[in-house]
Amino acid sequence: MRMYDIILKKRNGGELLKEEIDFFIEGYTKGSIPDYQVSALLMAIYFRGMNKRETADLTMAMVNSGDKIDLSKIEGIKVDKHSTGGVGDTTTLVLGPMVAAAGAPVAKLSGRGLGHTGGTIDKLESIKGFSVEMTQDKFIENVNRIKLAVGAQTGNLTPADKKLYALRDVTATVDNISLIASSIMSKKIAAGADAIVLDVKTGSGAFMKTIDDSFALAKEMVDIGTNVGRNTVAIISDMDQPLGFAVGNALEVKEAIDTLKGCGPSDLYELCLALGSQMLMLSKKAKDEKEAREKLEAAVKSKEALNKFKEFVKAQGGDISMIDNTELLPKANLEIDVKAEKEGFVSKITADEIGLAALSLGAGRETKEGSIDLSVGIIISKKVGDYVNKRDVIAKIYANDIEKAKTAEQKIHEAYHIVKEKVEVRPLIYGIVT
Ligand code: URA
Ligand code: CA
Repeated sequence: MRMYDIILKKRNGGELLKEEIDFFIEGYTKGSIPDYQVSALLMAIYFRGMNKRETADLTMAMVNSGDKIDLSKIEGIKVDKHSTGGVGDTTTLVLGPMVAAAGAPVAKLSGRGLGHTGGTIDKLESIKGFSVEMTQDKFIENVNRIKLAVGAQTGNLTPADKKLYALRDVTATVDNISLIASSIMSKKIAAGADAIVLDVKTGSGAFMKTIDDSFALAKEMVDIGTNVGRNTVAIISDMDQPLGFAVGNALEVKEAIDTLKGCGPSDLYELCLALGSQMLMLSKKAKDEKEAREKLEAAVKSKEALNKFKEFVKAQGGDISMIDNTELLPKANLEIDVKAEKEGFVSKITADEIGLAALSLGAGRETKEGSIDLSVGIIISKKVGDYVNKRDVIAKIYANDIEKAKTAEQKIHEAYHIVKEKVEVRPLIYGIVT
């Protein structure tokens, strides 16, 4: 087989065979096929597209390019959740305990990675003593006993995707639905989940800016999952403003704890109920959405979800007094109010910009080796639809450096769009693709 023929076939609009897809993914991972040929193929795929079968084959070829995590020793149906991006995504911290309290196993293997804020592990390390250091046997035992564990992802998962994603980034071939869908799904499948719930974000702060594109991406991912025997459901949710109020590591942990205590932001809680319901149904712990929601709401009201979070944190060495009293979480030295520069209705809060503001405070890593300041971040206090007077506080900055705080303040002003006319608030959830 020759890479040249594969490029030519796709360039002319042909359908690639499974063997051809396997050949190019294997060769690219090993290094026997050069970047320039793969670049040409990516561009041909970008213009000619791939059908469902090709997309599923590409996904599985990437899954098979590296290690796969085996969760088979965990009892029950393991459902994983993935968000296509969003700033300060606190849902995992809330969903894990809620879903676990309702009986479904949650085995989360997380990375640290780059981003506006840290990953799930970094956030949890705001709690003194919390650690993901444990043997694989201990991880499995914890999930079987408590129904919830967070471990560090080790091993070499989907190396083909890592190389391809980096190449797409510099060849203007990221925004193709087949390529995005196969990239995301390959990572979820390699991570060992039996079933997958996707939170596909739509709006200014998301990959997919329009509702139609977001549904198309959701459908593509659901089809891949179904095609390869992993039940997959997607929820399309709004990203025209950050979810909840907190962006920052310790601040998000506090927000998650507040939500588990029943006094968190309503949009965050609502999205967790929606995603959690799908997770419970896929793991066969609820027969329909009504029953699933009731179980999740009951778990929060009875404090079982909060207690589940404590049980899990304690099992991983964390100091649970910080959960009872969130004032004990890491705290920044400076608190600075950001005030509206004009009056009117908030029409949009660009999530990306808020994320960059948090990053500039030190809440996330700019390079792989970078360190994170767990205490810093932003709490937004006005949401889309709210009316603000000039000089009203729209957000609060938590910082340890006044110069960084000034940079963040500028970015927060850029994120907030304030208009004269009353604005219609967009729905939180646009639909579900099954
Ligand atoms: N996220 C991914 O992991 N891959 C893509 O291609 C796009 C977003
Ligand atoms: Ca948040």
